[in-house]
Amino acid sequence: MLRMQDVTVTFPSGRALDGFSLEVPTGSVVAVMGPSGCGKSTALRSIIRLVEPNSGQVTWMGEDVTAMSQSQLERFRRGVGLVFQRSNLISRLNVVRNVMLPMVAVGKSVDEAHDLSMRALAEVGMDSRADEDVRGLSGGEMQRVAIARAIADHPSLILWDEPTASLDPTLVVDVLSLMERLSRTLEATMVVVTHEIGFALRAAHNIVLMEAGAVVEQGAPDAVLANPLSDVGRRYARALAYAAAPLKENVAAL
Ligand SMILES: Nc1ncnc2c1ncn2[C@@H]1O[C@H](COP(=O)(O)OP(=O)(O)OP(=O)(O)O)[C@@H](O)[C@H]1O
Ligand SMILES: [Mg+2]
Repeated sequence: MLRMQDVTVTFPSGRALDGFSLEVPTGSVVAVMGPSGCGKSTALRSIIRLVEPNSGQVTWMGEDVTAMSQSQLERFRRGVGLVFQRSNLISRLNVVRNVMLPMVAVGKSVDEAHDLSMRALAEVGMDSRADEDVRGLSGGEMQRVAIARAIADHPSLILWDEPTASLDPTLVVDVLSLMERLSRTLEATMVVVTHEIGFALRAAHNIVLMEAGAVVEQGAPDAVLANPLSDVGRRYARALAYAAAPLKENVAAL
């Protein structure tokens, strides 16, 4: 279980998290949604202390992350996969070497890192491209390589920060369907910051809606979107109804 309790983060510009609490059962997938600037990325980063909470507590499997020493924190981070909005691949390394790099950096042998990387690339459908220059890949392919890099060492916790937000809309569905498949096949606990309501409905066990640094509503995605109780929830429900409306008319016309 990942548990965040009453986490507060204050930047010089103001409070980004204001008593943020979240519980994610082991092996489940939670979608975190909310308007731009509400603190989603800060919440995700504070789980691994890329942002240090000013107060509150983060625990993972009963261990207090907020109280960990630097070496304990580094060990914890090795079990966490990260996928960001931009793939951040290193352009002078080929595809497989990009996936290998974090594992070699923490002391895995080149052979083992290569083996794990090839398996992860196969998982995301990029194994045939292993020796290619990353500069020749499309945005969606780069993001698939970044996903392979995040899952290669079998993390028990995967944090996703808007992994499709920088992609051309025609590529978004490829990455979302890959994420949906991984959410079913991997045993990892997943926290997914996303605006993709369709993904939340298909893949998330729970949806957490944020506003101004705190959770305003949470629950099963279909229940929350069918009967939203907050302004944020009503806005997502409207967006969903708008996207689905033409489809309903087409179905009715059949
Ligand atoms: N490193 C930082 N230093 C100072 N202020 C920050 C920092 N990171 C975030 N903030 C501020 O904290 C608030 C929350 O930001 P955050 O990036 O967590 O929001 P978000 O919900 O992820 O937004 P978006 O949907 O645009 O990614 C914002 O007001 C932002 O300007
Ligand atoms: Mg963000």
